[in-house]
Amino acid sequence: MDQPIVSPRTKTRSPVVQQLLAEVARMDFADGYTRMMPAGCYTEPEFFAFEQAEVFSRTWICVGRVEQVAERGDCFAWEVAGEPILITRGEDGEVHALSAICRHRGEIIPCPEKGRALRCPLHFWTYDMQGRLSGAPRMGDAVAKLRQTVRLTALRIELWHGFIFVNLDPEAAPLGPSLAKLEPLWAGYEATGVIAVPPAMSDTPLPWNWKVQVENFTDAYHPEFVHHGTHDFAPSIMTGDGVRFTDMTPGDNAIVRSVPMKTPDGGMMNDGWGPDAAFPAIPTLTPEQRSRVTFAMLPPGMTMMFAPGTIAYTLIRPAGVTATYAGSDRVTYGGWLLPKSTIDLPDFRDRCAAVREGGGKIWAQDVPVNLGMQAAKNSRYLPEGIYGSLETTLQQFNVWLIEAYQRADKATR
Ligand code: FES
Ligand SMILES: [Fe+2]
Repeated sequence: MDQPIVSPRTKTRSPVVQQLLAEVARMDFADGYTRMMPAGCYTEPEFFAFEQAEVFSRTWICVGRVEQVAERGDCFAWEVAGEPILITRGEDGEVHALSAICRHRGEIIPCPEKGRALRCPLHFWTYDMQGRLSGAPRMGDAVAKLRQTVRLTALRIELWHGFIFVNLDPEAAPLGPSLAKLEPLWAGYEATGVIAVPPAMSDTPLPWNWKVQVENFTDAYHPEFVHHGTHDFAPSIMTGDGVRFTDMTPGDNAIVRSVPMKTPDGGMMNDGWGPDAAFPAIPTLTPEQRSRVTFAMLPPGMTMMFAPGTIAYTLIRPAGVTATYAGSDRVTYGGWLLPKSTIDLPDFRDRCAAVREGGGKIWAQDVPVNLGMQAAKNSRYLPEGIYGSLETTLQQFNVWLIEAYQRADKATR
């Protein structure tokens, strides 16, 4: 009864997807990843469906934080690769990821009110927080047997520093080793202890492909030009210093750059990055961490910024080829890990508002360039692209994408 819900690898691909994968394969051997991904990867609904089935269904997707299911019986609903899922804190005290699809006839089950069981809205079959069937009205003598055999499909879950990651692929390699590069960053935050203020997700999707979203995040070249006035304090180019990249090894799932700040302990203020951070610097961080901001992309669904006063994170959930939900202090509100000492400050709400305002100003500068990048994917004059040294992370993202696409392609042969 517990079939994996991920769609099986299909042997056939649509001609559009086949053509794009062939183009990507040529990049691999002829171009050394030095050109942009083909435009169709950003514009073709069929290619988006391929990515949902083969990338988002087979990689670790961050869905939220353990604080969101702090107590037994807590629940929140999410979506991974178009699949409705429930994250629960079970009767056993553990965090569970369950498919929200009822095992009777497939209705979608919502989170219940606190203290109630999971209940399907159609015929009121009920399940406990670990997904085990507990009741099936009017099913007569069959109920006892059903209780023993029926349960909501359990999904792969992994906790990473309080973040909840889900993978629809039962055979996926574990997440932790793929993020080893980020481990040294955590000690100073965890020595103080940090608590999440989860992000609100945008009500309406952003009108561009998810890759445009994360490329904008990881691009160290654009801040000097797009973010004039809001990002000058954390520049990619600075005398005697500047952006630093990290190497990527196969299986690595963190694309990282760090930039210096003009003075230590800076952070987000109401007009962008600056010296008087609204969230105070965390004293247990290393001097290096208090003088730089580290931007980490965890493809395909998450980005993080390790700053002296906070770890700010964005969750990304694509809904269509040019429809991308996102939640963070840039786009909506929240998405912070903060020490209790910051959360307890009497003017904490004002500080949050200042960070949201500063992030919003940076975002307002990004929106038009993202719209432009997406629109240009339809142009007959679109170039193949040229990458400079400040665009290392974009090339690394291409390598990550090509590996993901080719893994899927090879598995069908
Ligand atoms: S579909 Fe869920 S109880 Fe019938
Ligand atoms: Fe930007």
